[in-house]
Amino acid sequence: MVADTLLVHFNQIFSPNDLGHPLFGQEMKSAQIIEDGYIAIKDGKILAIGSGQPDSQLIGPATGIRSFEGKIATPGIIDCHTHLVYGGSREHEFSQKLNGVPYLDILAQGGGILNTVRATRQADFDTLYDKSKKLLDYMLLHGVTTVEAKSGYGLNWNTESRQLEVVKALNTDHPIDLISTFMAAHAIPEEYKGRSKDYLDLIAQDMLPMVKQEKLAEFCDIFCEKGVFSAEESRYLLQTAKELGFKLRIHADEIESIGGVDVAAELNTTSAEHLMMATDQGIQKLSQAHVIGNLLPATTFSLMEDTYAPARKMIDQGMAITLSTDSNPGSCPTANMQFVMQLGCFMMKLTPIEVLNAVTINAAYSVNRQDTIGNFDKGKEADISIFDAKNIDYPFYFFATNLIDQVYKSGKLVVDKGRIIS
Ligand code: NIG
Ligand code: FE
Repeated sequence: MVADTLLVHFNQIFSPNDLGHPLFGQEMKSAQIIEDGYIAIKDGKILAIGSGQPDSQLIGPATGIRSFEGKIATPGIIDCHTHLVYGGSREHEFSQKLNGVPYLDILAQGGGILNTVRATRQADFDTLYDKSKKLLDYMLLHGVTTVEAKSGYGLNWNTESRQLEVVKALNTDHPIDLISTFMAAHAIPEEYKGRSKDYLDLIAQDMLPMVKQEKLAEFCDIFCEKGVFSAEESRYLLQTAKELGFKLRIHADEIESIGGVDVAAELNTTSAEHLMMATDQGIQKLSQAHVIGNLLPATTFSLMEDTYAPARKMIDQGMAITLSTDSNPGSCPTANMQFVMQLGCFMMKLTPIEVLNAVTINAAYSVNRQDTIGNFDKGKEADISIFDAKNIDYPFYFFATNLIDQVYKSGKLVVDKGRIIS
């Protein structure tokens, strides 16, 4: 078959193995690394990849051929945990943070997430849309082509649904593909202070069925954390969501270990997210239940903690892990997946191959897009991140600098030399 586009002479192409399940433990250590590689694209999908001179059958009179000496290609990077849509910002809490005020204390005083809830409730659709679009632009410029986006700064139907509608609109309008997660259980709204059970009932009985009916989200998530929602409450909400047909994720063991991991293993959530405080026992349970560990090292960095999630232990215990930004206005104000990937090496001691597997194929499984993205198997979307790098180690070694040269989304050039092409 003849290709529409042929990208040739990459120094290296990185393509994870798709084994029909997330890469667990030792499976994360290998991948296809093709020297002097080419990628053939047809109708926005991968037609073939290979080394050296492309097969002559791939080339016709109309095939566009571009050369990439000195560059590497990876599947489009997937950011599988963000709190994308919100009003305002929280740089005024930065000095509190610098002075050592703990994150959960700021929240208990009505700041933190609740601060952003007030700003988000006041923001109209267009304001939220423009702000989120700007974040997506930053992400795309850093090589990200798919993003999971959680609601959770409305904590009432009016604003939660507005957040979800923004995600829906941007999924259509923006080159980045979005996966929507409903997370009204992100904090207890001030008007429900001391009545968390009532608020959970409101989510479970009123909001979840409406989200389902209006097809506004695929996943349901909850912040299982000391002073927020208990393990018992998380079990109740996620069980209800599961019965309604939602796929599940859970914020677990982020700041304190209070049993979120048990809920993840029992309900077989797709992923358990954060896991900074994961215990050996917790790791074993997640591993046995095949729950993906979604780790967010830039949050640890931003919270100025040294308790990075024990990623090495998780891999040794056979877990599949992925990495993501947690992009949000409080615990992790960034849009830079490259920095997250570098922290994976610098602070979690992962290898570049493990990190690249984490943010491509494993991330695809964690957002249920394994059939269409995550590697360069024939028929998958031609989502391609091209780095100005000699080999796959280079973007980790040369850190804190955006090395993206070009990005292709479904075979279309969408970023070229630091600019979005629209
Ligand atoms: O994942 N943990 C809860 N939610 C976010 C923080 C959101 C915020 O601080 O605004 C997180 O860290
Ligand atoms: Fe989060």
